Amino acid sequence: MDLSEFQWQLDRPIRMKTAEFEREGRLKHCIFASQFDRPLLQKTCFIADMIRVLSRTREGSNKLRELLSHKRAMLYFAQPSTRTFLSFMAACQILGITCNEVRDPSLSSEVKKESPLDSIRMFSSYFDLIIMRSNITQFAECCAYLMNDLAQNSMRSVPIVNGGAGSNEHPTQALLDVYTIDRTFQFGQKEASSKSRIMDLRRKYSNLTHGLDNKIYAFCGDLGRGRTVRSLATVLSQYQNTTMVFVAPPDETLQLDSELRDHLISKNVQIYELDSLDAAINGVPILKQIDCLYMTRIQKEHDTPEMAASYQSLDLSHFKLTRDRVEQMKDYAPILHPFPRDSEEAEIPTEIDKDPRAMYFRQARNGMWARAALLLHICDGVDQLHTLYKEFYGVTAEESLVI
Ligand code: CP
Repeated sequence: MDLSEFQWQLDRPIRMKTAEFEREGRLKHCIFASQFDRPLLQKTCFIADMIRVLSRTREGSNKLRELLSHKRAMLYFAQPSTRTFLSFMAACQILGITCNEVRDPSLSSEVKKESPLDSIRMFSSYFDLIIMRSNITQFAECCAYLMNDLAQNSMRSVPIVNGGAGSNEHPTQALLDVYTIDRTFQFGQKEASSKSRIMDLRRKYSNLTHGLDNKIYAFCGDLGRGRTVRSLATVLSQYQNTTMVFVAPPDETLQLDSELRDHLISKNVQIYELDSLDAAINGVPILKQIDCLYMTRIQKEHDTPEMAASYQSLDLSHFKLTRDRVEQMKDYAPILHPFPRDSEEAEIPTEIDKDPRAMYFRQARNGMWARAALLLHICDGVDQLHTLYKEFYGVTAEESLVI
């Protein structure tokens, strides 16, 4: 794909790009995880909670569907997806957005040599929003520039939402991951029935605090090719007193890359890079120290035959969970995984699924609420949601929300 017309825009550092992807204090396009600053994350998590609560009743669900019933979305997924595709579709349905999809470009006019950029522009003729996944790392970003150029020339232009770009970025996965971690680290603070959970936990873990600051996050598996790790680590680097432990096989392709490492160091994140889940820091096993474990699978679909041959000699058992390993973890430490997990390698065996710390199915469901919140934000529907909430419950969400 020839993206050379955007080269000078692509070559800039991200911090010089993000203002172009905003309008009127909101995101216009969602392309990079670093667009999610702390205030936006907090706001989006709150909106997700409001949507979650209203969805509990038929009347609330019906009202939510009126919020964006005048919008249409195109889901253009040129790479396989289960969760991102379906949770965006469900998010659209929650908000009343009508969806259509292209999941296989070989069934579109791209087989007649139509360029993917022309496809995108065509989608913008019919739809109000394009949610897309591509194996081309910078394609979503280029689509955002295309839309901005159209807007500057007073032509029709719609928001672009990146649902996974090559091995580089998966910003909405980071959003739902943070939403899941944030809910976990509230320790039931918002629940009337369990106010004292953190007090109980502090008897054993005296320094425990609410929220995402002051935490040790561990990432395990294919860290070099995992776009979810890159996006989540970038977002978490904004939090205070953050430590990250990266556990990856001893192969450069699978390990933390230097760009992300340098970024994290520049944000004062304390980093450790280890070669086994059984490794220790200062003599204490990491599994006993961490507050959150983010597992990933080895992404074999990116292997060349040479890579596959070289990985044969790696002992991947160091990067898999076992019951013994989970037993060492803190009582509250969530186990996350962006999924899919590898059913053959079993980096998380199914026997772990019943453990109360296994959050990965909830994490996937949270994707629906978090993505609905993001779409509402982009489509400028948040004020209407607040009005709806007040009409429905007679109090504001801020006054009443018990999640
Ligand atoms: N986590 C994630 O992106 O899953 P899918 O590839 O199934 O969308």
